[in-house]
Amino acid sequence: MNVVSSSNSLPTSESEYSRCVRVCQNRACRKAGAKSVLEAFQSHPVDNVNITASSCLGQCGNGPMVLVVPDMVWYCGVRVQEVPLVVEQHLQKNQRVEKMLYARFHPKGENN
Ligand code: FES
Repeated sequence: MNVVSSSNSLPTSESEYSRCVRVCQNRACRKAGAKSVLEAFQSHPVDNVNITASSCLGQCGNGPMVLVVPDMVWYCGVRVQEVPLVVEQHLQKNQRVEKMLYARFHPKGENN
């Protein structure tokens, strides 16, 4: 006998992804090159990872800021040439790129 779910919830596009990379596109980060950083992430697609342009992440002056959720890992001052490293090491191998972490939220010596 088949069991039919009675759930009324519909799948959302968010649920198709296990992770989201938010790249701030607000003024200060764009001045620092965030548009190119966003384009670099978009040119390196990873299965189950959604790349999105974000409004201000509240850390202006430290950009381009990149936030990976649900990991809650923050990268600051991200340069286009660093994007492949984040893609390969973090998004594909699940290892944070320590040297790029935003120290305000990831103090040195933090071990998680
Ligand atoms: S402009 Fe990017 S964090 Fe505010």
